[in-house]
Amino acid sequence: MVLTSFQMMIENSSDVHHANYVHSELIPYVASLKYSISSDYGHEPAPVVQGTMTLCVFKRTMATIPFILHQWSPVLATLAVGTEHSFGGILLTAAICVPIRHDQTLMTTLLYTKRSTLSSLFPLGFQYLVNSQISGDIMIWTNSQRPKRPVFTRNDEAIVKYRRYCQQFYTK
Ligand SMILES: [Fe+2]
Repeated sequence: MVLTSFQMMIENSSDVHHANYVHSELIPYVASLKYSISSDYGHEPAPVVQGTMTLCVFKRTMATIPFILHQWSPVLATLAVGTEHSFGGILLTAAICVPIRHDQTLMTTLLYTKRSTLSSLFPLGFQYLVNSQISGDIMIWTNSQRPKRPVFTRNDEAIVKYRRYCQQFYTK
């Protein structure tokens, strides 16, 4: 349960520039990620955020992995990490937000992987990663404000596209 509006949680993933500030630390002082994000958000009505994440362990680059983030609706987003040929295949995470009240949201995350001996170990680390990454977002989610006339910069193209896409889910 998170004390924020469900709208804030999925929309936050279209703020592509927060990733390198909030989601770069995997294991403190041991493992980190650096994101490189494409400025092309696709031709679909909803923004598609894609790029690569580079895994560093003790500041040594270990792997660069592609990812693709889809925001399907104000309550559903998926993140696919890796390719069919990646070590462990594609990891698909779904985040589902259930509005409880206007300022309370229940968030569920699901992990899908290709069945293998290796993937049976993923759930062990997944919950740790989800908790550590979401804890970085909670400060944003609970302190963000939604001005009636927001001022966007050219770096906010994905947010603007996401908000336009989401208009279909609301009455005027
Ligand atoms: Fe985030």
